[in-house]
Amino acid sequence: MIKFDNVGLRYDAGREILSDLSFEIRKQSFQFLTGPSGAGKSSLLRMLFLALKPTRGTISVLGRDVASLSRRDLPSIRRRIGIVFQDFRLLDHLTTYENVALPLRVRGRSEASYRQDVVDLIEWVGLGSRMHASPVTLSGGEKQRAAIARALIDQPDILLADEPTGNVDPPMARRLLRLFLELNRTGTAVVIATHDFTLMDQIAARRLILNESRLEIHD
Ligand SMILES: Nc1ncnc2c1ncn2[C@@H]1O[C@H](COP(=O)(O)OP(=O)(O)OP(=O)(O)O)[C@@H](O)[C@H]1O
Ligand SMILES: [Mg+2]
Repeated sequence: MIKFDNVGLRYDAGREILSDLSFEIRKQSFQFLTGPSGAGKSSLLRMLFLALKPTRGTISVLGRDVASLSRRDLPSIRRRIGIVFQDFRLLDHLTTYENVALPLRVRGRSEASYRQDVVDLIEWVGLGSRMHASPVTLSGGEKQRAAIARALIDQPDILLADEPTGNVDPPMARRLLRLFLELNRTGTAVVIATHDFTLMDQIAARRLILNESRLEIHD
């Protein structure tokens, strides 16, 4: 679904923080992306989200070289990719419901057409009782789940989650992992960036490991 060929990334004139990355995220696959702090996990997710261009190599999505896409093509492709940022990026002046509904509202969908889907999804992530609360009043784990719901509302083909268990206790981390596995079973490809080994050790999943700018893959 998304393929990297010899991708390299440097910020400004600095050294290359990612070098010679060649790998593929397949349809309906499940994988962890790991490596020490500063290894480039968030940067790699931003490239997968097409929000950051590589400084060399090629990224193709659904068989098309991203560099050849026009500005006009980008939104429809990005809609198929859901992302949960490390810092959530919820809007504090909106409720949980409004944050989750935002991607659809921005696209001009009428509220009547999505209201029930938004409510169902918020309940699925266990936030039914916080539906109309402001994000400022949510706990770390609740914010995490609101951000996950927002990433999923448009039914992406792939979900990218950046340290989704970074702010929660171990039982909540296990619940979130179950949520991701359930999502994966329904056909969504999942990439979880994490350095939480207790989380990764719970399931036998593919691991993409970043270290000293290189990628090692354990299938
Ligand atoms: N916008 C930027 N401009 C310049 N350098 C950056 C930028 N974003 C990240 N970096 C650098 O790139 C490297 C990789 O950062 P990145 O945030 O991708 O790592 P990470 O693996 O996600 O780390 P963490 O586990 O702490 O979240 C770091 O050395 C960081 O300082
Ligand atoms: Mg990061």
